[in-house]
Amino acid sequence: MKRDFISITDAGGRLNSLIMNSIKLKAELRRKTGHLRTKPLKNKNVALIFEKSSTRTRVSFEVGVNQLGGNAMYLSSRDLQMGRGETVSDTARVLSRYADCIVYRAFENRMVRQLAGNSTAPVINALDDLEHPCQILADLMTIREKFGKLKGLKIAYVGDGNNVCHSLMLGAAMSGMNFTAATPASYAPSERIGQLAASISLDNKCTVEVISDPAIAVKRANVIYTDVWVSMGQESEKEEKEKVFAPYQVNSKLLSLADRKAIAMHCLPAHRGLEITDDVIDGPQSVVFDQAENRLHSQKALLLWLLR
Ligand code: CP
Ligand code: NVA
Repeated sequence: MKRDFISITDAGGRLNSLIMNSIKLKAELRRKTGHLRTKPLKNKNVALIFEKSSTRTRVSFEVGVNQLGGNAMYLSSRDLQMGRGETVSDTARVLSRYADCIVYRAFENRMVRQLAGNSTAPVINALDDLEHPCQILADLMTIREKFGKLKGLKIAYVGDGNNVCHSLMLGAAMSGMNFTAATPASYAPSERIGQLAASISLDNKCTVEVISDPAIAVKRANVIYTDVWVSMGQESEKEEKEKVFAPYQVNSKLLSLADRKAIAMHCLPAHRGLEITDDVIDGPQSVVFDQAENRLHSQKALLLWLLR
């Protein structure tokens, strides 16, 4: 049966091995050995459907598929018949007759699920309104590289309770990390995702909490994570959100309240001077460009898992 990757929870018990394989693929690429010779995705075609802009996700998937010997096709939803009203389910039924995998960045999670439900090929969620699981795979890999472990670390997410926050809280709980989000009450993460993360955390003997005070959240944290206040599709809320989120900026003062060796993370693109300051993003504790690079390695591990 085909497997999809729509939520980070779809990695299930494979999460740790996906992270370790990502680290291995990164080392192989540095040494120019392994898959660069064997081309494990030879004759495989991967369709990339994007309804929203992308720099990292698009390019890292295209380059990753190419490095594995496969062919990636970037398809803007505007250019597909989808843009003129063809249904997502018909698109899925057609594309899966040609392609071996479909990567989909959509406005709505419902649409990604619909695509997956009608595709005979594995579907990867490249971000929707509810989750961004590929990002979190790369982030967990990055944290594992920096600390040599995940279990027992404390991660504080400061900002909007959005798609990245959702996948991060689930991924942290799956990895045995203690997760605290600090968000304004009206922008807290989804309760359903919060409950799911809490139930996963019970099995992994870690904690999940959502509070409103960033200073309390970052106390003794090993990882501080933030994301944009205004996600793609929310442009009309910009003015209101920038006011509400002003106390949630990740700046050097907030970072100084965390563990002395804490790392600062952001999935990018960043709005410098809003959710994160230049001195943090360009400072010695920042790992944001490692995160961006690791999208390439972790998505290759993901493709190998889903397509082999
Ligand atoms: N972090 C991330 O997904 O970036 P893009 O929107 O550029 O793909
Ligand atoms: N939360 C952001 C993430 C961008 C990678 C958005 O959805 O726009």
